[in-house]
Amino acid sequence: MLRKLLILVVGLAAIGGGAFYVLTIPRTLAATDLPDHKADLANGETMFWAGGCESCHAAVDAKGEDLKKLGGGRSLATPFGTFHVPNISSDKEHGIGAWSTLDFVNAMKMGIGPGGTHLYPAFPYTSYQRMKIEDLIDLKGYLDTLPAVASVVPPHDLPFPFSVRRGLGLWQLLYVDGKTLAPDPKATAPINRGAYLVEGPGHCGECHTPRNLIGGRQASLSLAGGPAPEGDGHIPNITPDEATGIGRWSHDEIVQALSTGFTPDFDALGGDMAAVVQNIGHLTAEDQNAMADYLKAIPPINNPKPQK
Ligand code: HEC
Ligand code: HEC
Repeated sequence: MLRKLLILVVGLAAIGGGAFYVLTIPRTLAATDLPDHKADLANGETMFWAGGCESCHAAVDAKGEDLKKLGGGRSLATPFGTFHVPNISSDKEHGIGAWSTLDFVNAMKMGIGPGGTHLYPAFPYTSYQRMKIEDLIDLKGYLDTLPAVASVVPPHDLPFPFSVRRGLGLWQLLYVDGKTLAPDPKATAPINRGAYLVEGPGHCGECHTPRNLIGGRQASLSLAGGPAPEGDGHIPNITPDEATGIGRWSHDEIVQALSTGFTPDFDALGGDMAAVVQNIGHLTAEDQNAMADYLKAIPPINNPKPQK
């Protein structure tokens, strides 16, 4: 995979530095794109748990109130190198306390940090970009109320060419448009709410959708499972396919699995899903039901787990 990417990057460099420069100019929203909206902190907290921010930004073994200390430091091993998750606490110097709401919205929707820094998609903004700007304003308001943590996180450990942030601009042209998820006019309100939670803040597809060679999600296999990004193991198909997905689970069994971690086969969901279950446990029964409604309504995709 690394080799192919290198060839791609070298090839693109050959097209010309000028084109590279133009194609990778950071694309951002302007202050005038923000609606006039006062942060609703309760909804901000809902978005925090739905988005699972603390699963990556809190300390590795944090529990209880410590989950709200977002000093970063966790390491994420990926096929592109190791990321060290940054401090997003309200600390003005070490965290994002000094960021404006617009800075935050641009990071979440466009993958661009203040000053035009391209952000790596190990931060799952490819899903967060589907969130409503109002929900992001609420989330920033809520993050501002959480403790300031004065920790310094080491830089990422990435080989060339991935170490060049600017190159991400090309990738973002393919996978980032900042478009909020549009409700499906033919679907019920709960299904649309579920779609929003699953495709937006819940970022379920970041793990449950297989990726192509350049790390983009394969739209035709959305939520149909695939190899775990760290290389070991398999992430299950959660489309309603009877043979290879969760088509045999009832609506209530899905809610039960998502909120308690116990599946109808008496398994306990572990690995990276354990944290997701904890987060979903903070959502209202209505939102948990909506997620199950959506998972029942999406098209079933037959995508068996490969035999070893
Ligand atoms: C899967 C792990 C993961 C999750 C979940 C996650 N992040 Fe991050 N986040 C990262 C990584 C890795 C980076 C570093 C990206 C980079 O350096 O380009 C990051 C960067 C950021 C940044 C930019 C910080 C900076 O200093 O440039 C912000 C803001 C942020 N995340 C907010 C959030 C919020 C809010 C949530 C929850 C809605 C969240 N993140 C969930 C992994 C995660
Ligand atoms: C960080 C990666 C990650 C994210 C994000 C994630 N999952 Fe999972 N999920 C997993 C893994 C890994 C498993 C397998 C756990 C096991 O077998 O113990 C799993 C298992 C499941 C299962 C059980 C499937 C089965 O056949 O046993 C369901 C249902 C599920 N996830 C739904 C979701 C939903 C809905 C979301 C979004 C709210 C989500 N997941 C987000 C990694 C993730």
